[in-house]
Formats: sequence, structure tokens, C-alpha cells
Amino acid sequence: MPKDVFVENLPKHIAIIMDGNGRWAREKTLPRTAGHRKGAQRVKEIISEARVLGIKALTIFAFSTENWDRPKKEIVFLFNYLSKFLASYRNKLIKEKINFKVIGRRDRISREILRQIEELEEVTSKNGELYLKVAIDYGGRWDIVNASRNIVKECRRGRMKPSDIDEDCFQKYLSVGEFPEVDLFIRTSGEKRISNFLIWNLAYTELVFSNVYWPDFTRDEFRKSIREYSRRNRRFGRINA
Ligand code: IPE
Ligand code: IPE
Ligand code: MG
Repeated sequence: MPKDVFVENLPKHIAIIMDGNGRWAREKTLPRTAGHRKGAQRVKEIISEARVLGIKALTIFAFSTENWDRPKKEIVFLFNYLSKFLASYRNKLIKEKINFKVIGRRDRISREILRQIEELEEVTSKNGELYLKVAIDYGGRWDIVNASRNIVKECRRGRMKPSDIDEDCFQKYLSVGEFPEVDLFIRTSGEKRISNFLIWNLAYTELVFSNVYWPDFTRDEFRKSIREYSRRNRRFGRINA
């Protein structure tokens, strides 16, 4: 790869809303499930590309707290497919030394899938080649409420005082934890909204919106988004010389 601005300004942590599976399928007069299947293939492609590029952390949105309002049939398909996906991906995650973690509520997922997730988290917990977080039954508002609840518990137990709570401390209680800040956020499919993804963590993130539907989001499209990021001038409220 040529040593250009792209390499110098690589984001450490990328968060992606993988959107547009349904519309991709509809345009091809296929069932929405066909879009999810194709989308899952892209997930593997983008994860391996992130690893090749040396991205440290990737957080991807797979199912939101609002997605429960979809037809039951689609929800059942998505979770069954997730289970198949994880089973087929297990060896590769281990071989490529990817650290896998699910973020989100865990109380509404079936016991079998939860067990599968926990096993995969356990066997990959020592890996550090790429930190992959998959947001399932995740909502940014839930995350903040959940963090607050845990902080209150710590205060009640006397392990912490309200005056100890500052922004750094609060962030540690959020799902993404002490991870590198999210440098780049990508949403595919042309929608320009956050849809209750990492609302706290995106405070100073560079936002890139791609018009491509997720099933068409190839490694080249991914590189295009990263290139756009690498040209941005991040000021964080300061004045650049
Ligand atoms: C993203 O694609 C995948 C999930 C939310 C599970 P969509 O299913 O939202 O596809 P569109 O937005 O309807 O095209
Ligand atoms: C956001 O996409 C959630 C995921 C990609 C998992 P949605 O398709 O659910 O978001 P809206 O409904 O367009 O805001
Ligand atoms: Mg959508």
C-alpha cells in the first residue's frame, strides 16, 4: 500500500451502522432475508480488511433495542442467522487473533445464543490483533442508563463517592469502556442519522455517510470512507495553526 495520508491518519477505532440490507434485497425483488445473508458476508470481509489495515478496534451495530419492533419472522431469522454466523466464524476469529465481544442488553436474547456468545468471548478473550465489538440489542440510551445504574450501585456499596464521578469515570461504565475513542463512524445506505447507536462515544467522532447499501459495501468502499476520514481536520474545539 502506498505510504500516503491514508496510512498516516488511520483511525484507531471505527464504528459502523451496517444499514440497507432490506432495500438492497427489495431492489432485486428478493426477500429481505437475502439482504441479511449478503450483509453477513460483507461483515466478514470488512472485519478482515480492518485487521489487514491495522485498525485496532471495530464496533458494529447488528441489532438495536428498537429492532424488536420489526415483524417477529424477521427477528427470528436474524437471531437464527446470527447463531449460524458465529458458528461458521468461530475458527477464523481464533486463528486471526480477534478479540470478540458483544455489547448490549443480554436479558432478551435466547439462552442458547447467549451461551454461544459467552463461549466465543471466553475463547477469544486473550486475543489482541483486533478488538471487535458487536452491538446486539444495543441502544445508546440504554447504555447510559445502565452505566448510571451500575455507578449508583458502586456508590451504595461505598466503593465510590458521587464526587468521584467525572467524564472519564463515567465512560468506563459504558459498554465500550476504556477503549480508544471512536475516531470514525460510518453509516451505509444513505441514511444520515445515529439511530441510538453509541451516542455518548460519538461526541467528537468524524461521521462518514456512504450511499452504498451494506451488502454492497466492499473493502474498497471501506477504504474510501477511511480515506475521507484521513483528510478531515479534527480540531476538538481548538484552533489549528
Ligand atoms: C440493516 O439493514 C440490518 C439490521 C438493522 C438488522 P436493514 O434491515 O435496516 O435494511 P433497510 O434499512 O430496511 O434497507
Ligand atoms: C440501525 O438501523 C440499527 C442497525 C443497523 C442494527 P435501522 O435500520 O434499524 O435504523 P432506522 O430505523 O433507519 O433509524
Ligand atoms: Mg435500516
